[in-house]
Amino acid sequence: MRAFASFAREILKIDTHAHFFPTIGKEEAESFMFAKPPWLNINGDDSAMMMDGDTEYRFVQSPLWDPVGRLKEMDDNEIDVQIISPTPLLFSYTSDPKNVARWSARINDFGAASCEANPQRLYSLCQVPLQDFDQARIEVSRSMAAGHVGVHLGTHVNGRNFDDPEMIRFLHYCATEGIPVLIHPWDMMAPERMPKYMLQWLVGMPAETHLSILSLILSGAFERLPTDLKVCFAHGGGSFAMLLGRLDNAWHRHELVRQDCPRPPSEYVERFSVDSAVFDDKTLQFLLDVMGDARVMMGSDYPFPLGEIHPGEMIKNSELIDDETKQAVLYDNAANFFGITND
Ligand code: CO
Repeated sequence: MRAFASFAREILKIDTHAHFFPTIGKEEAESFMFAKPPWLNINGDDSAMMMDGDTEYRFVQSPLWDPVGRLKEMDDNEIDVQIISPTPLLFSYTSDPKNVARWSARINDFGAASCEANPQRLYSLCQVPLQDFDQARIEVSRSMAAGHVGVHLGTHVNGRNFDDPEMIRFLHYCATEGIPVLIHPWDMMAPERMPKYMLQWLVGMPAETHLSILSLILSGAFERLPTDLKVCFAHGGGSFAMLLGRLDNAWHRHELVRQDCPRPPSEYVERFSVDSAVFDDKTLQFLLDVMGDARVMMGSDYPFPLGEIHPGEMIKNSELIDDETKQAVLYDNAANFFGITND
């Protein structure tokens, strides 16, 4: 465990949902032999275009790849610690697993090196070639030995959800090795129906996350996975909390729903965590009611377009949440989940 010197403030803050993108240019990206490699087209003025093959994907600023700029923004936002994870565009689950193992190692080494800018305040999650259990197992263990504090996974692998035996096998491996898991939406369902208005973010992402949680619950995976598996879902768990009553109702009334799931779905909320990226005080309070105060941790989605502009502000200023809960959500829950201490 690494320790960090705390700022002189009442409640420390850990941001569990913050992304990085390595400085991989076109030529290097193409050397990994993907059909559409992601890369960074840096403009030389602290900005860049994230590229998806030859397609412009997103305009970004230097803190995404420069840890010095990142730490400065953390100071401005009074964020003590960030858990940085690879941008989901980098997952590359559709490509050859051996190439993606090399690619993931490149990205993970960049993440670990970024944290060296301030090892007390920056911690990284690795990515793995989740399309191949053995390659994924090797890379996650290599990364953990190199100082990563967990693994960042997408919500599905080429259409396989988290009820897939190989994906459950990987989660089982993470549980036995004590590796925390953050699951993030990517490659959203039905993109052809969501071409405008950021609908893939507004509808696709919450639905993706909801689907991955239900895949684990309704398949009975939580019955087979060790209870000490640490798994957290991004964006407040997507649509899950609001639709839990609908799910329980369906479970009670239909054998189709409960055939592989022996207990009411609401009994499994104690098996996972969610981040706090819901952007509304009342919604956060509701999320805390559903999940319990120990299973929501601050996550901002920094530095991306739908991230919280001042990470942690909504929680800090909430009039609906008491100070004890703020302490848990802003710091304690994430510290416990990722094994971070400021002693
Ligand atoms: Co994100």
